[in-house]
Amino acid sequence: MSDKPTQEDLQHVTLEHQKCEGTSCKVELVGATISSFKIMGHEMLFVSKKAYCEEEKKPLRGGIPIVFPQFGPGKIKQHGFARLCRWKMPVMPTVNPQTGDVDASFVLVPNDFSKAMWPHDFALVYRVILKHSCLAVQLQVKNTDSEPFTFTSCLHTYFPVDDISKATVKGLKGSSYIDKVDEGKTKVESDDPVMINGRTDRVYTNVKNDIILGDGGNASLLLKSVNFDDIVVWNPWSEIAKSMSDFDDEEYKTMICVEPGATKPIVLAPGETWTGKHGITLLLPDTKL
Ligand code: BG6
Repeated sequence: MSDKPTQEDLQHVTLEHQKCEGTSCKVELVGATISSFKIMGHEMLFVSKKAYCEEEKKPLRGGIPIVFPQFGPGKIKQHGFARLCRWKMPVMPTVNPQTGDVDASFVLVPNDFSKAMWPHDFALVYRVILKHSCLAVQLQVKNTDSEPFTFTSCLHTYFPVDDISKATVKGLKGSSYIDKVDEGKTKVESDDPVMINGRTDRVYTNVKNDIILGDGGNASLLLKSVNFDDIVVWNPWSEIAKSMSDFDDEEYKTMICVEPGATKPIVLAPGETWTGKHGITLLLPDTKL
């Protein structure tokens, strides 16, 4: 018998940039959830200190859980099954010898759990590329069924902030949004930057601009998407925080979710593939855009 670890033993995969010390990312095989992204030792993602993750039961409260095939509540479980299923990494990560960037891909195909919720045949491929000051991800949805199917999706990204009352989200002015904390009314954003001062759950649709997230301190992140045309901004604030078993009562003060989404149903014909891309880049204080 061999003691060599198998795919089934693997809980997570750590990618380490080969030219930039302390730049790394960690991908949990349950959900292919990125649970850490560090640039030169500094953590760029928020994970609750009470977070835990259990296959088919509990998604991680933090990092970047993948929402598929349904964003939000609906016919199936809230945010779908992809964040709950165990994904596979079919081949070892590769390194670009020139740049030191690391590239890994994770795959999900139907299993009994997904089939019980959603009968379709599909293949998801999630490519994660760790660059020296950027995390670039790509989600491919392929219809391997003989019938068309419809899906929505989102990369439910949790960011840490120094102080939620000072955090800023730039780039949303002029976009329409569905205000989920005000009876789902459609409104138009007049603020730039958007700041958070209470429970916030908004789906900004057809966002034309890149987003710049300021953490309330000195750091800013540039969020750039292709085909994730919507941006969800979520902070549970104090009351909801208290009701969440996997989130500390005070943690709403130090996190924000800014989630690239494809929340308008996408129809894929048999054989068709949809690809959504997203990049998170650390902006240095003197960066000119
Ligand atoms: C956001 C939704 O994307 O996710 C919110 O807009 C939801 O309505 C939040 O509360 C968290 O969802 P969950 O299922 O991870 O608790």
